[in-house]
Amino acid sequence: MEEILSLKNSFLEDSKSVNSLADLQQLKVKYLGKKGLVTSKLKTLSSIPPELRPASGKAVNEVKVYIEEEIKRKESLLKQEEHKRRILSEAIDITLPGKFTPFGREHPINKILSEITDIFVSMGFAVEEGPEVELDYYNFEALNIPKNHPARDMQDTFYISDEVVLRTHTSPVQVRVMERKNPPLKVIAPGKVYRCDADISHTPMFHQVEGFMVDTDIAFSDLKGVLESFIHSIVGIETPIRFRPSFFPFTEPSAEIDIGCIFCSGEGCRVCKTTGWLEILGAGMINPKVFEMVGYDTDVYSGFAFGMGVERIAMLKYSIDDIRIFFENDMRFLKQF
Ligand code: PHE
Repeated sequence: MEEILSLKNSFLEDSKSVNSLADLQQLKVKYLGKKGLVTSKLKTLSSIPPELRPASGKAVNEVKVYIEEEIKRKESLLKQEEHKRRILSEAIDITLPGKFTPFGREHPINKILSEITDIFVSMGFAVEEGPEVELDYYNFEALNIPKNHPARDMQDTFYISDEVVLRTHTSPVQVRVMERKNPPLKVIAPGKVYRCDADISHTPMFHQVEGFMVDTDIAFSDLKGVLESFIHSIVGIETPIRFRPSFFPFTEPSAEIDIGCIFCSGEGCRVCKTTGWLEILGAGMINPKVFEMVGYDTDVYSGFAFGMGVERIAMLKYSIDDIRIFFENDMRFLKQF
């Protein structure tokens, strides 16, 4: 009986140092394995006196059952702990900030360009394009600006050769479209233009939007109506507008269109050079000489044309006083739009 009791005690002692499932497996083999201590004890039962056998057998069996249950209990405890440990070690730290891909954004000039385009498209205008490297013929001659004509001085031209220039305005697209298509026409032509000029209000490359309409009875009032709707959409309905007589070789009569200065509300300031007005467009009725160049019957067709500087409109809208900042690629500036 004493031996049986000491078997239990030694098990209790041994089980104190069990810290893992592997330790437990060793403990199990030591006591319950084929050559284990409990198993051996059971085998020795046959060698003790028959009268003591039942009591001893019962006692050994009790110890065996006790050890089995104890091992089972310990096993499930250790498994739970191991499970917890695994979950902790596999956990993802979702508080770490993600890896960001910096997004680009639309350039303010492109933003205004699409705003302008949208307004005209909503009025039924189609969008056309022309080459930036242009023939002298389209840029000047077909627009009633012959070689050696003093009007050429109005534009500081980059010449590629005698016959090829960087277009100085988007007006050549008028001629290119009219050569290809017959009226009725209702077209805008946005794009880059180039002039050899650089200061606070000029960059060698800038953007224009050309527009023109040709049909059997287009009048100056149509020009006024279209431009007024446009200006009211782009700078606000409350902005005053004025048409001022002007001159362009390819329109007759010609006008420059001013809006009331949005910086001083017409009081007069540095931006409007104290006039209270800001020029934003050139326009006029298409000169019959241009129609003749493309073979339109000048007795049948009339039309208007206009051209505007996109940077100028962006400067007015965003209160920017130096045009060069659009093309310096300073992210602190560009990120504001
Ligand atoms: N092309 C002219 C310029 O660049 C603007 C304009 C276009 C004027 C159409 C009248 C008609 O100054």
